[in-house]
Amino acid sequence: MTPTDADFMARALFHAARGRGRTSPNPMVGAVVVSADGLVVGQGYHARAGDAHAEVHALDMAGDRARGGTLYCTLEPCCHTGRTGPCVPRILEAGIRRVVAAVEDPNPLVRGRGFAFLRSRSIDIRVGVGEDAARRLNQPFFTTMTAGRPFVTLKAAISADNCLAAAVGECTALTSGVANRHAHRVRAEVDALAVGVNTVLVDDPQLTPRGVYRERPLARVVFDRSLRTPPDARLLSTRNAGPVMILTTEQGAARADARASLEARGAEVVITDGSVRGGIAALGARGLTSVLIEGGAAIHRAAWDEQVVDFVRLYVTPHVLGPAGVPFIDGRRLSTAMLASTRVEPLGPDVLVEGYVHGPH
Ligand SMILES: NC(=O)c1ccc[n+]([C@@H]2O[C@H](COP(=O)([O-])OP(=O)(O)OC[C@H]3O[C@@H](n4cnc5c(N)ncnc54)[C@H](OP(=O)(O)O)[C@@H]3O)[C@@H](O)[C@H]2O)c1
Repeated sequence: MTPTDADFMARALFHAARGRGRTSPNPMVGAVVVSADGLVVGQGYHARAGDAHAEVHALDMAGDRARGGTLYCTLEPCCHTGRTGPCVPRILEAGIRRVVAAVEDPNPLVRGRGFAFLRSRSIDIRVGVGEDAARRLNQPFFTTMTAGRPFVTLKAAISADNCLAAAVGECTALTSGVANRHAHRVRAEVDALAVGVNTVLVDDPQLTPRGVYRERPLARVVFDRSLRTPPDARLLSTRNAGPVMILTTEQGAARADARASLEARGAEVVITDGSVRGGIAALGARGLTSVLIEGGAAIHRAAWDEQVVDFVRLYVTPHVLGPAGVPFIDGRRLSTAMLASTRVEPLGPDVLVEGYVHGPH
């Protein structure tokens, strides 16, 4: 059977995903070159911000065999000079006759201009093949470009009776090793992890991805309006994993001694309006495109009530914590039945349930 545009695009998407966790603030992009006689002669992906684009890798591999062929790319080829040169002149030089792209680049510097340039040079363009998958792959990039803020995931491990911990002030291990490994893999893919100050006080987490490869530093963030984060928190002894930002208010920052001790430990104290939304905006202003909010209960609730959550990821465990348990967001306000494009995966004795709050962007 002759492969279709969708088949070649699936291959380009596969290559794009090889950059997972490494390309931010750029998107993951994959490209495939198919010769005039229908053979795959080049393929490539964008490996990290500042490196060559996927199209360039694929065209380099194809060389002369690209002449008269088709280029498949998971995102509109760029027409502007960023850290690397524009891709569209390379496509023309290579003699490509047809370009099939999954989706228009939402970057205001591109947004249709790459296609317009190629059309004006008589290149045949088809857009929209594999669009859904291409958007999902790069949710943080699409959210940052279209909404001007990071993509926010709310993550929690909950008991069968919808609790986060056995009692107030208690650290409760709920998830199995299989679910923990999954959670660490997800940590390796985002730009920032965030928790509330009580979680720091109760659990003293390191907030590092463990047992997984992560190339870039990971920003660790504490929502802490009164600057209660202890300077000896373990989080501050893992600074080689990435920067630590304490999001506080004017009043919190006025506690000069607390601020000085945290800064002496290498934390950045960031002044916001004290809301989760304000904190997320501050992270966006620092170039972060995705934030994983890990808890605890108060921060989950605030993030949900302030409507800043794009995606919910729950590890549902078989434990029952009883009436003293710290409740997760009330099921009438947040139930997995409300989510879109929901995905369910068994992870040992636990079940991962995840989905979009408003659907993929
Ligand atoms: N199962 C899980 O997935 C999971 C994950 C994490 C934590 N936990 C558990 O959850 C418990 C801690 O939860 P928690 O509810 O006590 O604390 P939390 O959510 O970790 O932290 C709450 C604190 O964050 C500060 N904060 C800053 N900005 C805020 C805002 N906009 N809205 C609300 N609070 C804000 C507040 O202190 P200030 O007013 O002083 O700023 C508030 O008291 C622990 O038992 C921990 O083990 C479970």
